[in-house]
Amino acid sequence: MIIAIDGPAASGKGTIARQVAAVYGLRHLDTGLLYRAVAKAVLEAGYSPDDAARATEAAIVLDPRKFDDNALKLQAITEAASVVAAIPQVRQALMSYQREFATRPPGAVLDGRDIGTVIAPGADVKLFVIATPEVRAARRVLELKARAEPADEKEVLADLLRRDERDSRRTSAPLKAAPDAHLLDTTHLGIDAAFRAAVDIIEAVRTGRKRC
Ligand code: CDP
Repeated sequence: MIIAIDGPAASGKGTIARQVAAVYGLRHLDTGLLYRAVAKAVLEAGYSPDDAARATEAAIVLDPRKFDDNALKLQAITEAASVVAAIPQVRQALMSYQREFATRPPGAVLDGRDIGTVIAPGADVKLFVIATPEVRAARRVLELKARAEPADEKEVLADLLRRDERDSRRTSAPLKAAPDAHLLDTTHLGIDAAFRAAVDIIEAVRTGRKRC
């Protein structure tokens, strides 16, 4: 089984994806980490994240087994991640790893921006997770504070909106819901309620029931 979970920045897709993977016994890939790792490598080598040749090189030699998730989540890398993610050759270089991850038994939950549209268009279930920008910014501030990172709500909101705009406007695999994705609005849902709503959708699809 392959479950695709896409959505804009800080919409809650990662938390839902982790929990869904655990409950269905599937592997989980946070695909944002791939773009973050490319951005980190490019920045650390002293290049600009919009340097397509350097970013592509970094994507080709990437080894996801060596990821330090906490270092990749740092806000300093976040903006650069969306810049490298707009480079088509970078996306191309990261594609086969994601597809192999998705199809290896027993299947997987992948979260990102283009899972349902490009990486796994044949996924068994596709969710598109959204929430209002203000709610997403408030959640991201809590995450940053929990990691003792500086967190100004206005700046965080501006960052989310800027990235959503860049992610939606790029020509290569833009952020958008697949036509057969199920929309899950978590604006008024806590973590547990969002997880239950996701499982309800997955079960409805699996049992072939029609959602209204
Ligand atoms: O957690 P958050 O939503 O802030 O970010 P993320 O999921 O770690 O993704 C960071 C950036 O990577 C996004 O702003 C996108 O530009 C890019 N990304 C992408 O283009 N495609 C994906 N499948 C996943 C992430």
